[in-house]
Amino acid sequence: MSTATQNAPEAPREQWGSQMGFILAAVGSAIGLGNIWRFPGVAYTNGGGAFLIPYLVALLTAGVVYLLFDWALGHRYRGSAPAIFRRINPKFEPLGWFQVGLCFLIITYYAVIVAWSFRYMGFSFTKAWGDDPAAFFTQDFLHLLPSAQAHLTGDIVPAITWPLVLVWLLVTVIMALGVAGGLERMNKIFLPLLVVMFVGMVVRAVTLPGAVNGLNSFFTPDWAALADPHVWIQAYAQIFFSLSVMFGIMITYASYLPRRANLGPTGFVVAFSNSSFEILAGIGVFSTLGFMASKQGIAVSELEGITGPILSFVTFPQVISMMPGGAVFGVLFFGSLSLAGITSLVSLIQVVTAAVQEKFGMSVRRSSLFVGIISALCSIFLYSTSNGLNMLDVVDNYVNNVGIVGSAIVTVFLITFVVRRLPELHHHINQHSAQPLGAWWRIFAGYITPIMLTVMLLFALVDLVQNGYGDYPRWFVLAFGWGSLAFIIIGSLVLTALPWCTTVDKFLPARLEGMEPRPYAHHQNDDLIEASATATTEEYR
Ligand code: ALA
Repeated sequence: MSTATQNAPEAPREQWGSQMGFILAAVGSAIGLGNIWRFPGVAYTNGGGAFLIPYLVALLTAGVVYLLFDWALGHRYRGSAPAIFRRINPKFEPLGWFQVGLCFLIITYYAVIVAWSFRYMGFSFTKAWGDDPAAFFTQDFLHLLPSAQAHLTGDIVPAITWPLVLVWLLVTVIMALGVAGGLERMNKIFLPLLVVMFVGMVVRAVTLPGAVNGLNSFFTPDWAALADPHVWIQAYAQIFFSLSVMFGIMITYASYLPRRANLGPTGFVVAFSNSSFEILAGIGVFSTLGFMASKQGIAVSELEGITGPILSFVTFPQVISMMPGGAVFGVLFFGSLSLAGITSLVSLIQVVTAAVQEKFGMSVRRSSLFVGIISALCSIFLYSTSNGLNMLDVVDNYVNNVGIVGSAIVTVFLITFVVRRLPELHHHINQHSAQPLGAWWRIFAGYITPIMLTVMLLFALVDLVQNGYGDYPRWFVLAFGWGSLAFIIIGSLVLTALPWCTTVDKFLPARLEGMEPRPYAHHQNDDLIEASATATTEEYR
């Protein structure tokens, strides 16, 4: 598209205030509901201690590798996901929008879980769930339709709607304050608070009677699970979601780094901080379950509902009611869940607002308001209803296990084999790292990991097609699982077809020492190449 020269130049790109601000924001994005709400249940249902093996393999072969891959893309091509992929090749723009679409789907339900956490923090004071937290959560609080009778719509539940509106107001204000003034400042306050609260919760949990039984159950491997491909795909999907890689977040965050940045070692710090927090969450949650099982005189393996929302919103309230000082424990647990959720939610929204800003030439404030209102409406009318948890469960499964893994495979395939820019990204990382990465990075990023991911995705697809998901009606899974993915694919094509209102194509990445510059498909206008090449190389000197 040749609109570049007709458009007014946009405002200078926002930047993180410091490298430390970026690290905190990246860690804040990574540590989220995925760590506290998702990981312990996924680990438990996929072989307990044995899950830690695929998990660590996934961390090293995909987590760290693709975190740096995303950062190299963001830092080198300096834009939102659609702008970056378009700059690499205009035909790749839909992939950027697909990643934006994944984030859009996630934010609409992610905010709801944060809203539940806020409510439950309040409920902890009075133990409002009474003697039957399961009935309280599903009936009194959510007014939930049974999964086998899931509908296309549900009735609005005001008790969820109002905390949800507050969550959307809070995050919209943070977004409108910008990258340094909003996101960075918020992370500097919320992240230390989260660590203090969470460590307090874990210390209390491991000192509970029976905690050791829970820890044994978490760390005792079920080796047979290692032969199951679903366990491996769950481990990779968990790492992608938890580390916020391959769906636009880390690309977008790295695009706000100053030119001079230290990518390599920082990647290891962020990835290992996230996984340490995740394993700490497993320790805290399983110690608590051990206490609960010993109170009931049963084995931890006999406990039910150690997964997703039931673990946090049914099992934890049960434990809080049983233990001395339960109210404080409840505030620490649900407070941690809320804080971790908010710091990740803003990073997911930033993927959408950055794309809207650049495509439609909107200011930070206007795009935050625009995205905030549309997402809040979807969030309210889909998920703060009596059908909300059913939809959330299906969308979350398809987005994670198919959408994000699929996005990772397509991205790597295009960069490695179609435009063959993996060596360029490798070079970029090494020119912006105190420690260079060896050839192993390229081998894993471009070859070994994508082959493993493709095999795993095929297994997951065959299973989903043959067996559906959960005990939901087939039409429901089709509408909300496959339908969500179809919706964002069509949306990506439509958004790609719309013209850019900013000078997206007036850009060339900086020259890399020791590498021949490569031609860029969209730079057919020689004046433009000259102008932007001079500008970017000047900036690098
Ligand atoms: N990385 C975020 C989480 O773990 C999205 O929840």
